[in-house]
Amino acid sequence: MLLDGDDYKIVPFVPGGYSIKRADRAWEVRAAHALRRQVFCAEQGLFAHDDRDGHDAGALPIVALSWNAGMAERVVGTVRIHAHENGLWRGSRLAVARGYRRTAGLGRELIRVAVGSAHARGATRFLATVQQANISFFESLHWRLLDMATVCGAPHGLMEADLAHYPPCADHECAVVAPRRRAA
Ligand SMILES: CC(C)(COP(=O)(O)OP(=O)(O)OC[C@H]1O[C@@H](n2cnc3c(N)ncnc32)[C@H](O)[C@@H]1OP(=O)(O)O)[C@@H](O)C(=O)NCCC(=O)NCCS
Repeated sequence: MLLDGDDYKIVPFVPGGYSIKRADRAWEVRAAHALRRQVFCAEQGLFAHDDRDGHDAGALPIVALSWNAGMAERVVGTVRIHAHENGLWRGSRLAVARGYRRTAGLGRELIRVAVGSAHARGATRFLATVQQANISFFESLHWRLLDMATVCGAPHGLMEADLAHYPPCADHECAVVAPRRRAA
């Protein structure tokens, strides 16, 4: 019991765990779009009101879910993958919610499941246009920079994943990520 004058501090809430999976329920898809709007429209200003485009119709959305009391509670990360010609797949709209970044490796696991899912579907190449600030992050995950380009007025690197580091990943083999506790 806390008494007046006791020394205490508020401990930030940490979810019980995270899972990364193909978004196959309507609320997951809706929440993934909401997170994308939050990140790419409101936070980064790359799009005015809505970042959806022609790729969404055929794309496979992937989500990171936070878990609490044994239930999936919230979409806290997302990415989508889409097939192109001759075994080429692309990934785009990678986003982790603010407050969940650099805490549990969610961005890294979303990339692993995205590339592994495309690999399992026959991808022979996997490309993404990556914001300049994230190029070194992708390089640390076995991607190489092919070229630079301007996308939505911002510098991006065209990057390719080394598929040898991304074994095929079936939908039922999704990542479970343990939360990294914040320092007390
Ligand atoms: C980029 C983003 C997806 C990374 O996700 P995240 O969950 O924060 O990253 P992770 O926790 O998986 O990072 C894994 C490691 O890479 C490092 N890392 C993460 N982002 C990095 C960056 N931009 N540059 C260098 N290192 C980075 C982390 O510190 C961590 O290192 P550690 O394992 O030694 O602790 C996230 O910051 C984000 O959503 N940003 C806003 C939207 C955006 O920029 N999308 C990408 C478009 S290309």
